[in-house]
Amino acid sequence: GDVGAGEQVFNANCAACHAGGQNVIMPDKTLEKAALEQYLAGGRNEKAVMTQVTNGKNAMPAFGGRLSEDDIANVASYVIATSEAGWD
Ligand code: HEM
Repeated sequence: GDVGAGEQVFNANCAACHAGGQNVIMPDKTLEKAALEQYLAGGRNEKAVMTQVTNGKNAMPAFGGRLSEDDIANVASYVIATSEAGWD
């Protein structure tokens, strides 16, 4: 996916709950490398992020009806790349 396009999708759709890679609702379940490795179903990879974004999980809403597959692939690339680089 396109990381730059994914950053825009993130800022418009995810940052309300995940600004700076954090999680305002479930503070342990951040988008940082170690948390994704520990908590994300399927492991820290783009496909697993796409699945969670498409379907949602608990208090996280599903975006499958609101974002295109390209948008979801791009935001997943942004999340994985930034978890690798560090959010701050
Ligand atoms: C968890 C991505 C939007 C609330 C997660 C996780 C990812 C993610 C990758 C797993 C983190 C982990 O387990 O450590 C995204 C993306 C979004 C988005 C890319 C935008 C497309 C939102 C929004 C909210 C939200 C808008 C709040 C309304 C949550 C919550 C969890 C979570 C509560 C924990 C779910 C659980 O395991 O019970 N998110 N998220 N997310 N997100 Fe989001």
